[in-house]
Amino acid sequence: MRDWLGREINYLRMSLTERCDLKCIYCRDENYYCRGKQELRTDEIAKLTDSFVRLGITKVRLTGGEPLVRKDLAEIVTIVSSHPEIKDIAMTTNGQGLAGRVAELKKAGLKRLNISLDSLDETCYREMTRGGDLYRTLSGIREAIDAGLGVKVNVVVVRGKNEREVDRFIDLASKEPLDVRFIELMPIGTFGEKSENHISNEEIIRSHPELHRVAARSESQPSVDYQGEGFTGRVGFISPVSHRFCDQCNRVRLTSDGKLRMCLGRNEETDLRPHIEDADLTGIIREAIFRKPAKNEFTQLYHANRRMNQIGG
Ligand code: GTP
Ligand code: 5AD
Repeated sequence: MRDWLGREINYLRMSLTERCDLKCIYCRDENYYCRGKQELRTDEIAKLTDSFVRLGITKVRLTGGEPLVRKDLAEIVTIVSSHPEIKDIAMTTNGQGLAGRVAELKKAGLKRLNISLDSLDETCYREMTRGGDLYRTLSGIREAIDAGLGVKVNVVVVRGKNEREVDRFIDLASKEPLDVRFIELMPIGTFGEKSENHISNEEIIRSHPELHRVAARSESQPSVDYQGEGFTGRVGFISPVSHRFCDQCNRVRLTSDGKLRMCLGRNEETDLRPHIEDADLTGIIREAIFRKPAKNEFTQLYHANRRMNQIGG
């Protein structure tokens, strides 16, 4: 469907949980207690998915928190993939619990995986994720590549933490069949709100003249893609802070507790849970999507009412 500005909304980011086995420094506060009890059940997810499909959603991404912590994850993938209208089913994960699960998810219909990996250095990875094990995520990535799933690696570049690893990640994209995407830290939560932690993607692009721009894999993808000579994969830049991409935005977000959030960088939400049994659930969603805000509020004095793990990235 189209919103009031004529933008075609066909991408749903569905968060399955705000729980996560990591506590990445930019994503959530160390002592934040995650509420699992309020998560949408599979029958609720099925009804909501039906409505979103009726409204023209053709791409669904499962997010979190960490979607792998949900025991019924494969069942949810099956629910989504039972709709032939949904052409693209992907998931964003930290990859800690991925190894050993790829075949099951692929069989359920998952096509692509975006895997958060902020460092290739064991110590730095542990520090940025507050306790994660680098090698577990690396073996999950290997398993996903071997299974033939599309793989993208998400790197949030943070000043003074992993900024020296940019070349290592570019090297990874040059050798492996995966895309590495450098993401600008967004001002969500206390860490992201501090300007000294930010690096603009322009700074990285300027210092890598050997990379040349290549055509996007899909229209309205958030990254601008580059390659170097002889690269197997790609290097993408997602720059929501320095270059807003709201004009091309094609997505809405469903939080794990059933709130429809029309924009990552704004606090307005529509609670869908009380309407799941309504005959006009689809109409309620249609009305909310139609009023999708024109742009995010990242450049003003924005205070997100949820942390990233409660929104789904
Ligand atoms: P593809 O389908 O592979 O293009 O996935 P994606 O990039 O949409 O999903 P992913 O979960 O990997 O998100 C990568 C980064 O882009 C995350 O940091 C997201 O928060 C950010 N991102 C995705 N959509 C939006 C958006 O609408 N606005 C902003 N500001 N950032 C977004
Ligand atoms: N700024 C930018 N990206 C973020 N992510 C989580 N929090 C932030 C933030 N404050 C990324 C994760 C994941 C993706 C969905 O969002 O690393 O890859």
